[in-house]
Amino acid sequence: MDKIVALTKRRGFVYPSSSIYGGFGGFWDFGPLGVELKNQIKKLWWDTFVRNRSDMYGLDSSIILNPKVWEASGHTGPGFADPLRECKKCHHRFREEDLKKDSCPDCGGDLMSPRSFNILVKTFIGSVEDTKATAYLRGETAQGIFINFKNIFDAFHPKLPFGIAQIGKAFRNEITPGNFFFRSREFEQMEIEYFVDPTLATSEFEKWVKQVFDWFILLGLKKENLRFFKHPQEKLAHYSKATTDIEYKFPFGWSEFQGTANRGDFDLMQHSKYSGKELMYQFQDGKKIFPYVIEPSFGVERLMLALLVDAYYEDTSNKRVVLKLSPKVSPYQVAVFPLLANKPELVDKAQVVFNNLRKKYRVIFDGRGNIGKRYFAQDEIGTPYCVTVDFDTLEDNSVTVRDRDTTKQDRVSITKLDEYLNNKLF
Ligand code: GAP
Repeated sequence: MDKIVALTKRRGFVYPSSSIYGGFGGFWDFGPLGVELKNQIKKLWWDTFVRNRSDMYGLDSSIILNPKVWEASGHTGPGFADPLRECKKCHHRFREEDLKKDSCPDCGGDLMSPRSFNILVKTFIGSVEDTKATAYLRGETAQGIFINFKNIFDAFHPKLPFGIAQIGKAFRNEITPGNFFFRSREFEQMEIEYFVDPTLATSEFEKWVKQVFDWFILLGLKKENLRFFKHPQEKLAHYSKATTDIEYKFPFGWSEFQGTANRGDFDLMQHSKYSGKELMYQFQDGKKIFPYVIEPSFGVERLMLALLVDAYYEDTSNKRVVLKLSPKVSPYQVAVFPLLANKPELVDKAQVVFNNLRKKYRVIFDGRGNIGKRYFAQDEIGTPYCVTVDFDTLEDNSVTVRDRDTTKQDRVSITKLDEYLNNKLF
């Protein structure tokens, strides 16, 4: 893990937030490569689960919602709370699962019995900071979807089953953020609420668990590093009838990075009750029901961390570190170099190749250092192909294409370069 933390900082994937002020626990800034990786994850998710399906509707709801939303959803009650034990002496709080002994890990003091602490992040709206002005940053993107159910139903009249999908920030006042950015206080979720006929909920749930798993394999995650975790009945979240997580074998142990829940009719019922608006599905014959909801929920950063861990590889024979990221997600797909940075004729030609490729691929131009160093630098950030323009290029209009994983090199005519890369990358 330390190696991944160091690499991702050094190469501009992720930085502790506000680092010049000593950081701010549980918050992270994503640098030029991190933002590319995150964008790819989100784009692929949106393409797979929204754009390429005819039963999905997209949404971008606001982050701060009417506080009643969180009352109705049960998030301001004990449901969305961490049971914590507070030290009687230093008042630090700990999760039960993080405690090795029955005393405070910081000062050795006695611990109180577990109490619930709500983890919604509070803010104030308007100029007076009193309880009436209290609002919350959303703890999950899901609620924005439920409260728009009627808007989308009225505008599009979708037939069951159908889903509403949203990508966006969520905030939780996590008591113990940590494991790099695995548990953060600000993170992004990609969530689908899939509305189904209640009698089909169990089979739709199973279908989603499988689809999600298949998508992770498609992104390049190794099967042996993934496993399912079915929540026991007594540990289900307050809204859930069934939940199956997908866990990844992180260096700090198997941990959840995606979950699919059968939320039943809990949310639509609650919001109908609290808002006085009937959030029901109406069939063409006029019959109305509360559909059940299957919710596949993904964390962008946790998926990113799993991809980075999965891809990290030390090639001892070539003395290099490689991020074997799938070209689907790697920040860059191709790097273009002039063999020598001080030969304008090579630099100009490489620029032409670069400008052509960037119309279609995610490409980076690198003219610094020697060629071997440039290859290693690209390996370390996961760029699958490096294209080098050399003196022969000026004669034969061909370039050298080097493969990240095999280090093998092919000579390819510039006129065939797009076809070559297209075959390799897609
Ligand atoms: N709407 C359901 C829901 O929010 P969750 O299991 O609490 O369920 C869903 O969160 C996903 O969001 C998790 O699988 C994880 O990927 C991500 N997530 C949750 N809390 C997180 C945190 N503190 N930091 C980073 N990601 C988090």
